[in-house]
Amino acid sequence: MTLRAFEATDAPLISARGLTKRFGDFVAVDGIDLDVHRGEAFGFLGPNGAGKSSTMRMIGCVSPPSDGSLRILGLDPGADGSRIRSRLGVVPQRDTLDEELTVRENILVYGRYFGLSKAVVRERAAELLEFAQLADRADSVVEPLSGGMKRRLTIARSLVNEPELLLLDEPTTGLDPQARHVLWDRLFRLKRSGVTLVLTTHYMDEAEQLCDRLVVMDGGAIVAEGSPRQLIAEHSTREVLELRFAVDDHAPYQAKVADLARRIEVLPDRLLLYVDDGDAAAAAVHDRGLTPLSVLVRRSTLEDVFLHLTGRTLID
Ligand SMILES: Nc1ncnc2c1ncn2[C@@H]1O[C@H](COP(=O)(O)OP(=O)(O)O)[C@@H](O)[C@H]1O
Ligand SMILES: [Mg+2]
Repeated sequence: MTLRAFEATDAPLISARGLTKRFGDFVAVDGIDLDVHRGEAFGFLGPNGAGKSSTMRMIGCVSPPSDGSLRILGLDPGADGSRIRSRLGVVPQRDTLDEELTVRENILVYGRYFGLSKAVVRERAAELLEFAQLADRADSVVEPLSGGMKRRLTIARSLVNEPELLLLDEPTTGLDPQARHVLWDRLFRLKRSGVTLVLTTHYMDEAEQLCDRLVVMDGGAIVAEGSPRQLIAEHSTREVLELRFAVDDHAPYQAKVADLARRIEVLPDRLLLYVDDGDAAAAAVHDRGLTPLSVLVRRSTLEDVFLHLTGRTLID
């Protein structure tokens, strides 16, 4: 009987209770609870400094928890770190490619760390380069490649051991919109093929695109948890009316329109009115003789959820 047969298939792949990371007196991760289940795409959404990477490094078994309990694939990272790591794929926040080697060599070298035979690694490298749309660059050195290509190579490399669980720390930060969409498409495919994805991001659109379920993190703590749709339903309204007036300070306008909205946010350059019907609210603003420079009606996003929960925007 194989070891895997002992594990209940519906047990969470990741289970954390009171998970804490301290650096000296500083608490980077402040007692978080979470469960990630097989086959889901799970996200940590939060601004810089929220504690996302510190959490990911504990899950990746490269940084020991300061407190709390953590089980990965049913195992204890303290006792079984290397066994767990052999079944994970890891895409760290910063690429750690060997820039002087070729694209293909980066995968070959990495595959050998896992003790895979040369023949197996060669075969997988060819498939992974195809998957990452890098087959035509297989024999180029890494250094001159674009950021998007390097990121795809890091993902291809992380898959060489056929991991059940793939950890991605800010997979698309710093990439242009087109490169991000190519990456998202590859991650969708992985998800469809049954790989459990755990990712961090400070982009609300990335979280909405990729995550079945996510936690919103701020200051080391989880401030909300749910699917993107649930989070928006729970913490925001259906629509948002954005009003921009030809003034430097939008605060004085707040009182003039506050009764039209369930909630209002004053940003330096605009007012956000949280409403069920944006067009109706815009008409009411107009009826009051107010003349905004611009009027925009849009759906609520996770950015609105974050603003509501923390009073701050995700990207400052
Ligand atoms: N090795 C470290 N030593 C001291 N402080 C750290 C270390 N790593 C992270 N921190 C601090 O912990 C907090 C959370 O960092 P991090 O987990 O990297 O957040 P995020 O990935 O969400 O941006 C930050 O304030 C950061 O400065
Ligand atoms: Mg980080």
